[in-house]
Amino acid sequence: MSTPSVSPTPPTSGPDELGAAGALGAAGSSAGSATGNPATLYGGVAHRRVTIRDLQLAKQRGERWAMLTSYDQMSASIFDEAGIPVLLVGDSAANNALGYTDTVQVTVEELLPLVRAVVRSSQRALVVADMPFGSYQRSPDQALSTAIRFMKEGGAQAVKLEGGTRVAAHVRAMVEAGIPVMAHTGFTPQSVHALGGYRVQGRGDDGERLVADAHALQEAGAFAVVLELVPAEVAKRVTAELTIPTIGIGAGVDCDAQVLVWTDMAGLTGGRTPRFVKKYADLRGVLSAAAQAYQADVVAGTYPDGAHSYH
Ligand code: KIV
Repeated sequence: MSTPSVSPTPPTSGPDELGAAGALGAAGSSAGSATGNPATLYGGVAHRRVTIRDLQLAKQRGERWAMLTSYDQMSASIFDEAGIPVLLVGDSAANNALGYTDTVQVTVEELLPLVRAVVRSSQRALVVADMPFGSYQRSPDQALSTAIRFMKEGGAQAVKLEGGTRVAAHVRAMVEAGIPVMAHTGFTPQSVHALGGYRVQGRGDDGERLVADAHALQEAGAFAVVLELVPAEVAKRVTAELTIPTIGIGAGVDCDAQVLVWTDMAGLTGGRTPRFVKKYADLRGVLSAAAQAYQADVVAGTYPDGAHSYH
């Protein structure tokens, strides 16, 4: 296995470097940390990672941001350089990198190396480790133990778990131990079998339950909440009522942030993708064409040619 080409993360800068607004300042731009101007989330000092405080300040400024999943060195370094402020090592690695059909079977042991790879290959983004099914449901204590592993062994800066009011005590236990927690409610893929498939949550009367769940997660100390497959009107209400950022996926445009699985976003995923997915590229087509062209050259004896040979 080759070592990552990206240098290790430099030390986090001290509070004095953050400017009065606490935002990222303005290295390379004219808006600034010196004045405390509300610089954009990713537009500032280039030598520390985004923090949960930056995300909180972005909410107060009404600044939207994008989160992507990442499971490996290449995607992490590309998204980090592209200015994506938060990378989620999602348990969606299960069905996007590890060959499972859903997220239920993936384990902590399988996700930890991916978290390490993403942390080692990024310098600016806040890296969130997703806690897989079975690694936190049993008790707040189990959640804390798993979260500690992702922070200590994985090097993550935050963890994520799924559920509403029923995991509020779990969130509280981790937050009280000093671990930033991202919550995830609405459709929760780890419960796909209990929910009877990939279905929109929070329609009709169920909307009140979803709003109550989001409040319970905020009160337990979560720094942000993912809203998945939720009616846009409900997500808008939750976003207006909560003081922490909401991150939508299939939850309309009014969330504070959006997240997509990177292989969906880049058009690498084969087969059907959900309606909320917008493909910003056709990586599957590009890679397939490249592989076929390479194979054709090899079969024809035109690769390697003189320019790609040593004498
Ligand atoms: O694992 C994942 O990719 C997620 C996102 C869909 C939020 O949880």
